[in-house]
Amino acid sequence: MKTVKVAKKKKIEGETSFPGDKSISHRAIMLGSIARGKTRVKGFSNSVDCRSTLNAFLKLGVEIEEHSEGELTISGRGLKGLACARETIDVGNSGTTMRLISGILAGQDFSSTISGDEYLRNRPMRRIILPLRQMGAKISSPDDNHPPITIEGRKLHSIDYHSPIASAQVKSCILLAGLYASGKTSVTEPSQSRDHTERMLKYLEASIEIKGRTVSIGGLSELEARAITIPGDISSAAFFMVACLLLKNSEMSIKGVGINPTRTGIIDVLKEMGADITIENVHEVCGEPVADLNVKSSTLRATNIGGELIPRVIDEIPVLALAATQAEGVTEISGAQELRVKESDRIGTVVSELTKMGASIEEKEDGMVISGGKRLVGSSVNSFGDHRMAMALTIAGLIADGETTISGVECIDVSFPHFIDTLNRMVE
Ligand code: S3P
Repeated sequence: MKTVKVAKKKKIEGETSFPGDKSISHRAIMLGSIARGKTRVKGFSNSVDCRSTLNAFLKLGVEIEEHSEGELTISGRGLKGLACARETIDVGNSGTTMRLISGILAGQDFSSTISGDEYLRNRPMRRIILPLRQMGAKISSPDDNHPPITIEGRKLHSIDYHSPIASAQVKSCILLAGLYASGKTSVTEPSQSRDHTERMLKYLEASIEIKGRTVSIGGLSELEARAITIPGDISSAAFFMVACLLLKNSEMSIKGVGINPTRTGIIDVLKEMGADITIENVHEVCGEPVADLNVKSSTLRATNIGGELIPRVIDEIPVLALAATQAEGVTEISGAQELRVKESDRIGTVVSELTKMGASIEEKEDGMVISGGKRLVGSSVNSFGDHRMAMALTIAGLIADGETTISGVECIDVSFPHFIDTLNRMVE
């Protein structure tokens, strides 16, 4: 297991950009692979998760040429042009790959088996198995929930699905299966989850319709390839934003980051807490809003995070919890039970690891209550194989007295391979 030692730092400063958005990178490979023609991608995330998607489509017979880091060309094979993988498709740690690819594989004329690492094999797949079966797919898993899952491709028909959870992975899985279904497939969610699939489908001129919380897609028409440029990942930037706010005399400029409103909960929550963050140079790239952010050290106050805000901030809760330990007052996070089934049980792991460092956090079934204004002290903590935990704990180490040892940091590569180097370049 790889370990990193982090000492307390004085400040962070400078200008940087972040590698391409992970969610959008997955979708670029998937839609590029099933479109007709060549898709030139710029800003692809070279993370282990996105490489799992890339490798999965190589196994499905798609030609993908890599030019330089972040730049590649996908030779799309059209909706029905994928080839049978012949062996299990291993998607590693990537829940997004497994759930989204299942929608595509359900509509093929061949069978596929998909599995992943020990963490992924413990994550729930019933949430996609049930709606795909309603569409006519034939899917099996050892306990009808966990990977490996085997999908025998079938002719699909459209459904009108009301999802019990606000999950972009579930929504996207059904929309991708909807491309293979006769008729109009609709998904309604309880609150808005990230909408990158819808935006990219619209950019590729698919027949997609959005009315309130319902997204509909017309099936059986081919997508035509179009160049895709991917903005910087706001979820990676989030760790640096919080570091900059918490370290005194710090200032950072973040260039070209995605500010899709379904992802900017982190900015809204931090601003509500008193953060000095300004958004400049807003423009649109391939249907996604992009901007530069300026962040300055700030004194933070507590806030409440719940309801419709949760899906907009779901991946940033570990680092927001850290920010809350330093804010004045008590922060309550509620309605976030989905955190229990992420790369780790993020309610349990945030509470146990930040508590070791001196934080005062009460665990709730659907969130946590954090009493702020606590001095953190360097300790030995564990990532539990969860990349976002490893990065949040590294940032905690920057502000804690003494030295913090984080074990299990190899998982950082799942989303942000240059995280430690980027941080080392900017901290003093
Ligand atoms: C993702 C959706 C979210 C998020 C995950 C990436 C995506 O999961 O937590 O990191 O790319 O669609 P859910 O859709 O399950 O909430």
